[in-house]
Amino acid sequence: MKSSDVLTIGDLARRTGLSVPTIRFYEAKGLIEALRTGGNQRRFLRADIRRLSFILIAQKLGLSLGEIGAAMAGLPQGRTPNARDWARISGAIRTRIDAQIARLEKVREDLGGCIGCGCLSLKKCALYNAGDKWGEGGVGPRVLR
Ligand code: FES
Repeated sequence: MKSSDVLTIGDLARRTGLSVPTIRFYEAKGLIEALRTGGNQRRFLRADIRRLSFILIAQKLGLSLGEIGAAMAGLPQGRTPNARDWARISGAIRTRIDAQIARLEKVREDLGGCIGCGCLSLKKCALYNAGDKWGEGGVGPRVLR
């Protein structure tokens, strides 16, 4: 590996616009992995520029760091992610976003019955628990767990 293939954490910060502590945070979360020099200094691969770009885009899409980590788990550490890698990851994200959209559309639909109502009834309001359907399984916030 040529020395031009690796970046210091400062180089990576300049190339991505991220702060050094933010890069360290992502490293601590396992989203990127630093190589270590003989003097125990961090060195990053050029591919980490794209990894960090992906993390930022995925966060803007509303994915948690855990979800981003799962999506990136199959990415190769030693090379720049290729089009097939991105197609696989973006497909998984699209599935997640589709599920979020479906859930939000259901909430919007349920909200229609509430507009102008204001009863906030735990028994009849669909946003809470229409017909107390969750009460059949016992007491407590089981649905939220
Ligand atoms: S606030 Fe009355 S039904 Fe939701």
